[in-house]
Amino acid sequence: FTANIDASEISKGTYPYYMLKEIDEQPAVMRRIVDAYLPADGSVTVSADLLTALDQADRLYIVAAGTSYHAGLVGSYLFEQVAGLPTEVHLASEFGYHMPLLSAHPFFLLLSQSGETADSREVLVNVKKQGYPVLTMTNTAGSTLSREADYTMLLHAGPEIAVASTKAYTAQIAVQAVLAKALGLHRNLTAAKALNLRHELSLAAAGMQTLMDEKDQIKNLVGQYFPNQAHAFYIGRGEDYPLSLEAALKLKEVSYVHTEGFAAGELKHGTIALIEEDTPVLAFITDDATAAHTRSNLQETEARGAHTMTIVSEHLAQPTDNIVLPDVAPLLSALVGIVPAQLIAYYAALGKGLDVDKPRNLAKSVTVE
Ligand code: G6P
Repeated sequence: FTANIDASEISKGTYPYYMLKEIDEQPAVMRRIVDAYLPADGSVTVSADLLTALDQADRLYIVAAGTSYHAGLVGSYLFEQVAGLPTEVHLASEFGYHMPLLSAHPFFLLLSQSGETADSREVLVNVKKQGYPVLTMTNTAGSTLSREADYTMLLHAGPEIAVASTKAYTAQIAVQAVLAKALGLHRNLTAAKALNLRHELSLAAAGMQTLMDEKDQIKNLVGQYFPNQAHAFYIGRGEDYPLSLEAALKLKEVSYVHTEGFAAGELKHGTIALIEEDTPVLAFITDDATAAHTRSNLQETEARGAHTMTIVSEHLAQPTDNIVLPDVAPLLSALVGIVPAQLIAYYAALGKGLDVDKPRNLAKSVTVE
């Protein structure tokens, strides 16, 4: 069964679907997060108790499901690189039953849009029983996970009605960045001082807006790439890999195109066998260190008939690239990278006449294990 959200209370306004409305709200969500957590003096508004507890941890365990899991994967780079905290990311449905050998001083971060996911709650109950500190980041103040955890941070995304999660994903990345920055400052780390998060989230908001303004171009691309495709791939390296996983999940859950997200370098070790004439292969290229390699992996698929699309950060873009992402701090590239992928999923589903907001077999919040 689903969480108790009364969709009729929240208007779609002039939007045909909540999904489009929620994609479009993302710049405003970024600004709300800036207002909530990042005052102009460069400090970060995070509870001192939380920072003290987190500072004592030797390892962060992020546990989540679905889109929230993908946001956690992006967050792990932030915690490691900005706050110097070793981080592992786990699926709640696995972690609850097969807990890995934990470090001496673990700290748990449960990410959940709804704060009601049963698998995540199971983990919360288990780790609390063992006396470990737990923080939840949820979009719903007063949700079960928020109430039961030691610490909680609100996502400030506003009610998310469409089953496919969009603005909660980008909010989760931004709020994890807030916490990573706060911990890094607490530890007096250069990387944290160098990250002007207030500025970067504002840049990301502007970049998201630019991409939304170009949505008709993305709609046209969808018409060319997804007329009747059964299969598709997203590929990327480094942080573009978790971004590929989320992009693939969006496309499959709303358009029913079977889509895999893959580490670009791993595709050739078997999965490339699935590439046929006109199979769409979409590559994220946002990282200087791996751009050339990802491009060559994409060419390998093209040589086998793939219909390739590039989604590339501005400073790495070439004239033949399909979608150009406004530049943001490298650790935050998923914030802008996901927007075209959300729109691709939306338009692919719309093109098939599907109910974008209520895909078959899915629930907004899964309260059974
Ligand atoms: C369901 C939803 C997904 C969501 C997942 C985790 O499967 O359909 O969109 O990502 O649950 O939900 P949570 O509320 O814990 O983030």
